[in-house]
Amino acid sequence: MTSLSIEPMEQQNRSRLSDSILMANNLSKSFGGLKAVNNASIEVKYNSITGLIGPNGAGKSTLFNLLSNFLKADTGKVLFDGKPIENLNPHQIARQGFIRTFQVARVLSRLTVLENMLLGRQNQTGENLLSVIVNQGKIRQEEKENRAKAMNILESVGLAEKAYDYAGALSGGQRKLLEMARTLMTNPKLILLDEPAAGVNPTLINQICEHIVNWNQQGISFLIIEHNMDMIMSLCSHVWVLAEGTNLADGTPDKIQSDERVLEAYLGG
Ligand SMILES: Nc1ncnc2c1ncn2[C@@H]1O[C@H](COP(=O)(O)OP(=O)(O)OP(=O)(O)O)[C@@H](O)[C@H]1O
Ligand SMILES: [Mg+2]
Repeated sequence: MTSLSIEPMEQQNRSRLSDSILMANNLSKSFGGLKAVNNASIEVKYNSITGLIGPNGAGKSTLFNLLSNFLKADTGKVLFDGKPIENLNPHQIARQGFIRTFQVARVLSRLTVLENMLLGRQNQTGENLLSVIVNQGKIRQEEKENRAKAMNILESVGLAEKAYDYAGALSGGQRKLLEMARTLMTNPKLILLDEPAAGVNPTLINQICEHIVNWNQQGISFLIIEHNMDMIMSLCSHVWVLAEGTNLADGTPDKIQSDERVLEAYLGG
């Protein structure tokens, strides 16, 4: 009996070619003459919270755009969960369980908080016209389940009582929280967060950190861009540093904090 219960775990480990949920190599992107990302590489281990830091203009958000294919890279390869994704569009990538948020939260102000959550749901039967006609009962059932799921998530982040308010009425911090909450509608394996604490009050930053830890404990990996070093240092097991579009250093938060090159990059920036 013991060997039977161990076997699925061994099988799972064998099916993973590496211990990285995300591995990107030699990514580059130029805007005109500017090399915003220049041969950068990054790796995120399964079940980790990984940080990405660097001075303003270092290319961090552009790197996120390349990883999630919101921008087509000039060069480079991205493996998510062991598979190449550079030929998939962002929606297809999201369906695989890889989703990101934006530096300026992309929520629709004229929709309610709940409607914004429902936009995050991918792969519904009702997305295709023929399917709508054939599967009306199934679609209604899916909608019911999606609403229940959305309300559960909103409850867990303390936004349930705002469910029927316009998203435009939320504070900047609550919009960031809503954008994060919406990523959970797609059953993500990896979430990329672009500056989740920017413009957010300290109390809400603490809550956001608690949510991230909680979601991570449920098996979701994170890659987080942040200028808030306390947040990066307390959450992340590994930190990557980008400067002028290229890799400057990576390592544990302690190692990064005392790295002369990192300090110089920030002081020079
Ligand atoms: N669409 C674009 N067209 C032209 N230049 C761009 C574009 N997007 C980014 N850049 C430039 O590329 C460089 C990297 O920008 P990016 O936004 O990736 O930096 P960042 O590290 O995210 O900075 P910040 O910490 O300020 O958000 C900057 O010089 C920026 O002006
Ligand atoms: Mg940025």
